[in-house]
Amino acid sequence: MPDAGIDRVLIAEDEIARTVRRLGREITTCYSGIDRELVVVGLLRGSFVFLADLIRAIRLPLVVDFISVSTYGDGIVSSGELKVTLDLEQSVEDRDVLLVEDIVDTGHTFSHVIRMMRSRRPRSLKVCTFLDKPSRRTCEVDIDFCGITIPDAFVCGYGLDFAQRYRNLPYVGVLKTD
Ligand code: PRP
Ligand code: MN
Ligand code: MG
Repeated sequence: MPDAGIDRVLIAEDEIARTVRRLGREITTCYSGIDRELVVVGLLRGSFVFLADLIRAIRLPLVVDFISVSTYGDGIVSSGELKVTLDLEQSVEDRDVLLVEDIVDTGHTFSHVIRMMRSRRPRSLKVCTFLDKPSRRTCEVDIDFCGITIPDAFVCGYGLDFAQRYRNLPYVGVLKTD
């Protein structure tokens, strides 16, 4: 039985776990032989739950940093605006950087952050998202590591919120719309 406010479970805990393990293997293979720690950058807040699981599935030396940008506010529709509310602690110049998102929807957030990161001259820059909603894309984003492609429904849980709620759900659910 899904929680109050949730219409149905879209991605159950076991599928999440399998997906995270698969992404961890792909990332580990991709960066094997790396001579310095991988810099894993999580976009707050949505990515923090996925990021916590993902880094434990990556068998490489790595460091974690965060940036926070905001597009949606508390509404269900994108405002189209983006603010950098917290920047990285460390320089990514000449480092191998992996950007981690919970979901790519319109692509606005990720494309903006990717542009910003490239301007800081990392040695390499790759991107990983847990969820991909390609039907909503308005900004093109090349995703290197993709978890699960989903249909156009408003999802929450596993880090994703609606009005800051539901991030703690251990599954991904579809929000009731009435
Ligand atoms: C959500 C989500 C992604 C972004 C995806 O973040 O976590 O970062 O929107 O949408 P887009 O591809 O259309 O830009 P949100 O702005 O809700 O902030 P949050 O991570 O703090 O929930
Ligand atoms: Mn986000
Ligand atoms: Mg949000």
